[in-house]
Amino acid sequence: MIEISQNQNLITELVAIKVINLIKRFGSLVAVNDVSFEINQGEIVGILGPNGAGKTTTIRLLTGVFQLENNAKIEIFGDDITHNPTKYKKNFGIVPEISNAFSDYSVWQNLMFSGGIYGISKDEIEKRSKKLLTQFNLIDKMYFKTKTLSKGLKQRLNLCLALLHDPPILILDEPTSGLDPISVNLMRNRILKLKEEGKTILITTHDMREAQNMCDRILIMNKGKIIADESPDTLREQFKSTSTILFKIDGVISSEQERILSKIVKLVKDKNGYYVFSSTNALRDISNLFQTSKENDIKISDLKIKETSLEEVFIHLIKDDLTSEEGMAK
Ligand SMILES: Nc1ncnc2c1ncn2[C@@H]1O[C@H](COP(=O)(O)OP(=O)(O)OP(=O)(O)O)[C@@H](O)[C@H]1O
Ligand SMILES: [Mg+2]
Repeated sequence: MIEISQNQNLITELVAIKVINLIKRFGSLVAVNDVSFEINQGEIVGILGPNGAGKTTTIRLLTGVFQLENNAKIEIFGDDITHNPTKYKKNFGIVPEISNAFSDYSVWQNLMFSGGIYGISKDEIEKRSKKLLTQFNLIDKMYFKTKTLSKGLKQRLNLCLALLHDPPILILDEPTSGLDPISVNLMRNRILKLKEEGKTILITTHDMREAQNMCDRILIMNKGKIIADESPDTLREQFKSTSTILFKIDGVISSEQERILSKIVKLVKDKNGYYVFSSTNALRDISNLFQTSKENDIKISDLKIKETSLEEVFIHLIKDDLTSEEGMAK
């Protein structure tokens, strides 16, 4: 796709990954349900979703672990790889959800083995491996067995293995999951550096902050479907008019009072004893809340209004998705 920018310079925007109509069924479960998206060269895109949303299955379909069904199609840099996913494996550096490093091999042996798979010469494997181990602060551990490495060190090795054949695209399934804050930072900085070096990166995560800080675009996935595909700022902008309202009630309220209140706001209690609800018209909802409370002898002791965070946007979207499904079931 060629676009002309405002200053009339020609900019070429290359689509690195294009997937169309991905579907994966496990028995009666549709784990990935008609998923399509595009990732431009040089972008970091995050697939964000709760456990079981279908993130890993999407990645497994994309990287040829699972066979494609129906009319699914995958293009990498414009080449259709649908019928030959292995041919283009050189394009992907993958950090899978479950590491494929051999635990009885040393760090060095794992690198040598991986390089061999890609047909890189021994000298070149050794040169690249030393460089990667130095960049990732693993050089001291090169002769340690992989099973003796901590989780954070193991994950660094996984990224080294993914980078060994210098692929243009990196696919990282929860690369920071379970790491301590220092290792998380190190990993995120390395990933951002790789973007600066021109890599295209697809990452899955549960972590809103990670998605917000690292990604150019976020695909929100729930129950096998992509339910949003936006930049972090656009996502937040859409919900700018949404506020989160928290209030506390003095004393104990009866079930009848609770029933009356829940007619005007959906009542959920947080761990600090505040009732929480989201509103697109805070003034109207708060005034209704006070009016109804007064009429029914309910004493509101505290009330706070918060701007909606990206995390809350995520919960809204997932909840809306559930609500519309419930509506359909009726
Ligand atoms: N090999 C399999 N056999 C049967 N069901 C599977 C298999 N792999 C995944 N599933 C199911 O498909 C759904 C999607 O799973 P997937 O692993 O893709 O989710 P995820 O979004 O990666 O979740 P998590 O955040 O927990 O990693 C889940 O309901 C899961 O139980
Ligand atoms: Mg997963």
